[in-house]
Parts: sequence; C-alpha cells; structure tokens
Amino acid sequence: MTIDPVLVVHGGAWAIPDGMVEAHLNGVRSAVAAGWRVLGRGGLALDAVEEAVVALEEDDTFDAGRGSFLNRDGKVQLDALIMDGATLRAGGVGCVEHIANPVRAARKILSESPHVYFVGEGAERFAAEHGIPLCKNEDLIIPREVERLREFQAHAEEHRADLFAPTISHDTVGAVALDSDGNIAAATSTGGTLNKAPGRLGDSSLIGCGCFADNKTAAASTTGWGEPIMKLVLAKWAADRVASGNAPEWAAAEAIDYLKTRVNGHGGIILLDARGRFGIAHNTPRMAWGYKTNKEENWGIERKDL
Ligand code: GLY
Repeated sequence: MTIDPVLVVHGGAWAIPDGMVEAHLNGVRSAVAAGWRVLGRGGLALDAVEEAVVALEEDDTFDAGRGSFLNRDGKVQLDALIMDGATLRAGGVGCVEHIANPVRAARKILSESPHVYFVGEGAERFAAEHGIPLCKNEDLIIPREVERLREFQAHAEEHRADLFAPTISHDTVGAVALDSDGNIAAATSTGGTLNKAPGRLGDSSLIGCGCFADNKTAAASTTGWGEPIMKLVLAKWAADRVASGNAPEWAAAEAIDYLKTRVNGHGGIILLDARGRFGIAHNTPRMAWGYKTNKEENWGIERKDL
C-alpha cells in the first residue's frame, strides 16, 4: 500500500521581530520545497529531512550552519542529529566548528559508522574522511552575529535575567517526514545559544531531547532553550504520548505545556506519526513552521501574546 507522504519543518521559536518575519517564512518555504523534491518522487523520509535541514542551514536567517549565534569566544559551534524511525539508526555531531552543514556529517555517521555520535575534532575528522568538506570557522560567521554578541557582552549584566526568556532567539531548525513506504524520520540542527560556553552541548543533537524518530511512536524535532528540553528528554516524551494512542496535535501541545510547568522552559516542537498525523506547538511569541502533503501546503509564523 502506498502511503501519502508528509513533511513538516520548523525554523525556530522565539520573539521573531516583525522585520524578520518574511525571511523566516521564505526560509521554511524553501526548506519544504527542498524536502518535497525527495518525498514527492517517492524518496526516503531520511533523505527528505536531511535536504530540508540543509536548506535551513544554508539560509543565514537561522541559528544553524552559517549565520549561527556565536559562543563566548566569538566562534560558531554547531550540533546536529538525524534519526531513522524504521531502524532507529541515528547520527549526531556536537561542537563542530568547521562544517557548514553538520546534518550532512550526521547523516554520514548514521549511514557509514557503527557509532552514533561524534564530537569536536573527531567529528570533523570523520566528516572529512567521508567526503564532507571542511571550512574555516570564519566562513560561518556573519556581521549580524558579531554585532549581536558584541551588544550582548557589553550588557551582560542586564541580559543575565532574561537570558532564557522567550524573547531571546532560539532559531534551531528541524524537519520530520513520512515517506510513501510508511517510514518516518527526523533531523535537527543548531548553532546553540548566544554567548554559550565553548564546549556546551544543547538538546538538539541528543537522541530523544532535540530530535527523535521511531515508526512505532512518532518523529519529533524541538527548538528552544536547550537545557530544560534536555532535562525532560522532551522529543521522546512527546513521541511516547503518541504511542499511548493520543493524536500528535494533542501530544505536541502537552509537551510544550509540560516544558513550561515542570521546568519553566520555552520553545516549540513538531511531531509526526506514521499515520501522517502531525502537531505543531510552541509557547514563544512566534515560531516559523511549514508543511506539505499531497493535498495541501501551508506555512506560518503566528504571533502569540504571552
Ligand atoms: N535548542 C538549541 C540549544 O539550546 O542548543
């Protein structure tokens, strides 16, 4: 039986300013188009989420790939994970500084390594040995982010109180997909949080936290302040609710509610099951999202007054 494919992407959840709305919508639309080029011709969910996330990493608008937030030392340090719901194979990279598309390196780990996770220099060596080009860290840095870090560090004391407020940018990107064979997959990629300590790893590249996929439950990608999301293993928490018979729409909203009530976290989630049902939820002022099926395509960045 052929299944109708579904693709859902997100481009971060925070107080996206009015002046950046168009760029975010264009970014998620392009990512949906990139993923659908795979899914629409009968390709794998795993390939579709990789291509959708590459499109978002290559767009300077988002906190992923080039244009990411800078860490305390003024460097870009990237994390990414990709996971296959059919086999539970996964590949993750953490704290890489010389890879423009970390999700490509994560995919190579999934496909070509007996290991699941590589960090730092070892991740870069693995990537280079498997045909992923390395770049200079400066190639990933853009003037907007140099200025953002400079401003943040100049007012560090004032920012301390609102460092993890929903207004602070968390433009982590991700995608979940269902293919015509009935398999689901997920991928998430991020530059992490602004002014993070070098070596700090967030939720995005950790299985079950920022990303998860299991055909028996659901595929999930989260965005937002990583530490609370990690503590709750939120992507897996949400997927498990779907396994208990709940709709992904309900489970996504419950997960974000749990994030807020249990650890005062904020962020967003996309959640998709192998029946093609999906949910999108966030508790930040805005979240950029897009989806496509054979019947419809939609995107949004609705404003919530918090
Ligand atoms: N959610 C991205 C991070 O906290 O690193």
